[in-house]
Amino acid sequence: MKPREIVPDVHYVGVPDFDRRLFDALIPLPDGTSYNSYLVRGRDKTVLIDAVEPQALPVLRSYLEGVPRVDYVVSNHTEQDHSGGLPWVLERYPGIQVLSSEPAKPMLVDHLGLDAGKIRTVADGERLDLGGKTLRFISTPWVHWPETMSTYLEEDKILFSCDWFGSHIAQTDLFADCRECILAEAKRYYAEIMMPFRVIVQKNLDKIKDLEIRFIAPSHGPIHRDPGLIIHAYRDWTDDKPHNAVAIPWVTMHGSTALLVERLVTGLVEKGVSVFPFNMATADIGQLAMALVDAATLVVAAPTVHVGPHPMVFNAVVLANALRPKVRFASIIGSYGWASKMAEIVQGAMPNLKVEMLPGVIAKGLPKPADLEAVDKLAAAIVAKHAQLGLVK
Ligand code: FEO
Repeated sequence: MKPREIVPDVHYVGVPDFDRRLFDALIPLPDGTSYNSYLVRGRDKTVLIDAVEPQALPVLRSYLEGVPRVDYVVSNHTEQDHSGGLPWVLERYPGIQVLSSEPAKPMLVDHLGLDAGKIRTVADGERLDLGGKTLRFISTPWVHWPETMSTYLEEDKILFSCDWFGSHIAQTDLFADCRECILAEAKRYYAEIMMPFRVIVQKNLDKIKDLEIRFIAPSHGPIHRDPGLIIHAYRDWTDDKPHNAVAIPWVTMHGSTALLVERLVTGLVEKGVSVFPFNMATADIGQLAMALVDAATLVVAAPTVHVGPHPMVFNAVVLANALRPKVRFASIIGSYGWASKMAEIVQGAMPNLKVEMLPGVIAKGLPKPADLEAVDKLAAAIVAKHAQLGLVK
């Protein structure tokens, strides 16, 4: 494979992975992914930016066959899908130096077994002159590990952002020219790994707001040549104000919880609320994560299994707690056969959510008229709370 030109002397040397369907044994990848690296050539020095997933190394090797000298490899992020190729890169170019943030250095030693003597740390704002091309290193922590940084190529106005602004898409085209596709996939990726650090992401966005950016070249998915689109979307996703929307992870065993969910969905939709119900028996957790980016309210709907919540819904609660979405209200509905501690266990499993709990509804067996009326009251309470936040038009 030959390097593919983005602008003169800046090439894509990344690897699309059309077949991968799961990341971290957790995150669904319906559209595959890519491990992007870039080659920047100045008059005097050549730099590789990021170093792909180990399984993608044969393709990186083929890109670099005709590149006899690389002086530096920038490691924007230590996670192995971008640094896994570093040991091979250090072997291929014995004189090369790894450039990383200060906190990344011990992580590169721990995770990759790199020789610390090969790693030079760069400071926030530090510049590296390659001869006609200048790299500037920008500390952008917690997108999504503590050590992450971005690299800006001043002359060509390219921001190499690694994970942030990325998306899990495998495609052969270099650029993100399908606006709807890129926003959906980038939102999924933001939701799954950046959302817990929403406030820090806001600060990172502020940090790059005065940069003149022509391209954002992330290390997953296509390159943005309309950077304003993705930056604007990140502003919306990280904004403190939620949308007039309710996310409902649910499951049912014998139909009772499903009746409560149907009643709630109907009541909310009739009042103009956007509702995102997910049957966790079949749902893609990435879709739930995306709904949690915007939702003002989370309603957990679970039947009782051996006194506790159904495990499939409980998984969703654990996920929501880990993702720390900006939800402001929550409630728990569901059903039981003879005894239940479902609601207490669910509530105890989401301490990270800074929410006001709204009265829930737990039906014994089939929901009775009084249970359904209580669900209607919950719908009305949710709408009233959303109205107080100015979310209802
Ligand atoms: Fe794409 Fe955090 O690695």
